[in-house]
Amino acid sequence: MGCSKGFFLISTIFFLSCKPIFSDLIFNSKQVSEIPINFLNFAKKAEVLDWMVGIRRKIHENPELGYEEFETSELIREELDKLGIEYKYPIAVTGVVGFIGSGNPPFVAIRTDMDALSLQEMVEWEHKSKNPGKMHACGHDAHVAMLLGAAKILQEHRELLKGTVVLVFQPAEEGGGGAKKMIEGGALENVKAIFGLHSNNFLPLGEVASRSGPVLAGSGFFEAVISGKGGHAAIPQQSIDPILAASNVIMSLQHLVSREADPLDSQVVTVAKFQGGGAFNVIPDSVTIGGTFRAFSSESLLQLKQRIKEVITGQAAVQRCNATVTFDSKDRPFFPPTVNDKGLHKLFERVAGDMLGTIRVKEMQPLMGSEDFSFYQEIIPGYFYFLGMQDETLERPAPAHSPYFRINEEALPYGAALHASMVVRYLVESQTGTTTPAINGYRHDEL
Ligand SMILES: *[C@@H]1O[C@H](CO)[C@@H](O)[C@H](O)[C@H]1NC(C)=O
Repeated sequence: MGCSKGFFLISTIFFLSCKPIFSDLIFNSKQVSEIPINFLNFAKKAEVLDWMVGIRRKIHENPELGYEEFETSELIREELDKLGIEYKYPIAVTGVVGFIGSGNPPFVAIRTDMDALSLQEMVEWEHKSKNPGKMHACGHDAHVAMLLGAAKILQEHRELLKGTVVLVFQPAEEGGGGAKKMIEGGALENVKAIFGLHSNNFLPLGEVASRSGPVLAGSGFFEAVISGKGGHAAIPQQSIDPILAASNVIMSLQHLVSREADPLDSQVVTVAKFQGGGAFNVIPDSVTIGGTFRAFSSESLLQLKQRIKEVITGQAAVQRCNATVTFDSKDRPFFPPTVNDKGLHKLFERVAGDMLGTIRVKEMQPLMGSEDFSFYQEIIPGYFYFLGMQDETLERPAPAHSPYFRINEEALPYGAALHASMVVRYLVESQTGTTTPAINGYRHDEL
């Protein structure tokens, strides 16, 4: 165990008072506020950092897509075995749920995603993806290493845990709704609160950012087939042109946000797919379009969904075409908005402030991106934040989902220590009643 002064003090108290390991001892506030920095120092020790870096690189070399994370899952279970941490497996095909602490309530969870993207890595380095067309371009390899790092910290300091920490390793975050399946598989059983993070290349190392309330948008996907009647491109009167109809549909869809939505309620409708025709002189039978819509409340999302359908079918009919619209296919479910609990935001400010200094804990604007962490937040209070990992040596860092995306491995100790500190503090404050999530928290229908 990394015996920095604070821990030594706490262990001494345990010994002197002859309390059992999971005692009811309530720490004094100085001891509590020193935990985050002690955890960070522990995670920065060469042996811990190197171990996390090794895990991250191994996963990076072998990226697996949603619900196919078999070897990633095996690696996780091997590490949990080595740490002496019990777990449930499988949940949601490849998911793993580990348990650290007393085995008694309260239960508090930390979540990571495990899946990679369908993308060919373009970064030339020693640990480049060995699976053609697959890449960890969203940092989930680092996220797994950070959660295992947190597991190591917590297991080595388990006498600090006033309850049980649940480690959630979920599959298929990238559109597959893995979180939803984890919940169906019982991952949140008895769990009172959940924490998750995402690494960010544009936030300086050693900084974090988040906010109370909505932080990421909810999202849905649509696809429409607009059918007309194919024929000779030079004799349009004998055809019903679906390309022109689809073009008008796309123009009309733009009015949903510009004319129908409240300008103060941010929303997006994007048509990102347009497929039809294959020759210069043939009017095709049909055109397929598809896209995504985003909003910060379930209400606005449902409104968009209804209007997208009406506009597509109505506008297609104007041009004598028929249209069928589908939403939320099985591999692309509807994501709710990511909404942070108010009480947990305060907890985050205290913990991250103690670790990094309050000046490095940033309040951020909400983003239109989405996260399936939101499924957990529909069930229990949850908190999602961004972890800085900007690499100062890179002139222009690549964003997530870019084939040039890189992880700054120096961020791993920060993620691991924050994960661990958040749950320790949550459990301590649950005893003293400082953290009161849920009751005063935001609810989706209040947005
Ligand atoms: C549209 O659907 C109607 C009813 O099924 C059908 O009669 C018509 O031919 C269809 N029009 C086109 C352009 O597909």
